[in-house]
Amino acid sequence: MLPRHLNGKSIDYLQWKDNHLRLDIGAQNFAPIEISPTLNQSADDKAIIKLCSQVHDFGYASYRWNAPSENIAADVQRLHTKLSLDNHDSGIVTESSGLSLLQDMTGTSQGKFIPYTARAMGWHTDGYYNAPACALRCFTLHAINQAASGGTLSLVDDRMLLIRLYDQNRDIVTLLTDAQAMTIPGNKDELGHNRPARTTAVFFNHADGTLGTHFTTRKSNIHWKTPDIQYAALCAAKLIEDSPDLHHKVRLEAGQGIIARNILHRREAFTDDKSQEPRQMLRGRYLQVPNPVQHKSLKVNTHAPCQ
Ligand SMILES: [Fe+2]
Repeated sequence: MLPRHLNGKSIDYLQWKDNHLRLDIGAQNFAPIEISPTLNQSADDKAIIKLCSQVHDFGYASYRWNAPSENIAADVQRLHTKLSLDNHDSGIVTESSGLSLLQDMTGTSQGKFIPYTARAMGWHTDGYYNAPACALRCFTLHAINQAASGGTLSLVDDRMLLIRLYDQNRDIVTLLTDAQAMTIPGNKDELGHNRPARTTAVFFNHADGTLGTHFTTRKSNIHWKTPDIQYAALCAAKLIEDSPDLHHKVRLEAGQGIIARNILHRREAFTDDKSQEPRQMLRGRYLQVPNPVQHKSLKVNTHAPCQ
């Protein structure tokens, strides 16, 4: 069961809803925040605070480096550290830095996983198969190179989806908060994956009371607890598709990146030009939400426990 401010009917919920509807109007047209790759300029501290504030209010923020980087991975990692993002998800293809290099690796063992292909990825939140104690709170992408065509991201704040679902039919949300709503079978392969089956709600709340969402539009290798819950998930997917006003489209060019709460997102298919560098994105996935290291008074969340 979700807490009062997320339950769809209390005064607390109505205040929470009003706040987010107001914020969403402001989210339509914000420009990338300029920041230096080395974070050694006087304006960078303000940029960090602005990034965190936008992520908190709108679900994501984008930035653009104002100078060339001499070591892109190190500069991205420095930015993440400055945002208090230090507890990363340790996927099998994640570097010790916590970053994964996403590019089209079709034909390799990594290329069996859709993020490592040029194919479109449907609506999902990251790590929807993670154990509750390791629920992801944040993902980041930084563009080393963009594709010759395609590759646009679309993002939807899950808080806005929850509001729209309550407006449509409260029963849908009730079904999707069932703690056993969906089960993802275990996965074991030659790359070292050895994940047991995981059962989770679609909507839940984190320990700090904020909304968490585990969502995927995958059709195979997923078991829904009941046909009603499966239907509710289909309704949610349809509502996302039918709500283009909630879709924030971002096409990252080289030197640009996004910092996002673990909100809903999808990726358009892309095509690389063989005469140019291929599309390459550095991805980070974290158990915290961004928080400016030197401005604890603006702290917007706490570390999620993960053991
Ligand atoms: Fe993703």
